[in-house]
Amino acid sequence: MKRTLVIVKPDAVERGLVGEVIARFEQRQLRVAAAQFRLIDVATAKRHYAEHEGKPFFDSVVTMLTRSPAMVLVVEGPGETWKVVRTMIGATDPSEAAPGTIRGDLAIDMSQNVIHGSDSADSAQREIAIFFPDLA
Ligand code: CDP
Ligand code: MG
Repeated sequence: MKRTLVIVKPDAVERGLVGEVIARFEQRQLRVAAAQFRLIDVATAKRHYAEHEGKPFFDSVVTMLTRSPAMVLVVEGPGETWKVVRTMIGATDPSEAAPGTIRGDLAIDMSQNVIHGSDSADSAQREIAIFFPDLA
């Protein structure tokens, strides 16, 4: 089984979408291997989004991820789970995300796009180690 990191972001928790998002993964026969409902601190958010440091949206994405609690998940399944999850999530800009995807169904605004999913096997490993050091 291969694992990937998912964050149901604060905007989605605020809207009561945690169950909806988890249900989609479970219906797809992916499993929640670990879950942590937590207020992510700024240092952890910066580490998580380190690849975006220096970009114009860096400060706002860190603020967004830390403004209220998030539901952080390790999702596992057969094969390239990170890729399956990214396909289910849809495009970064929800206005371009296909219907049927999580963002295409549940979001409209890039800065409030409901969910994070690791974008490669290496990212999955790095991000799981940040939030679930015991699993890495
Ligand atoms: O989340 P994803 O991997 O699809 O996109 P990213 O390029 O890694 O960007 C991380 C997050 O930053 C996005 O999910 C957006 O919430 C935010 N972002 C933004 O607000 N404005 C942009 N131009 C790009 C990203
Ligand atoms: Mg990303």
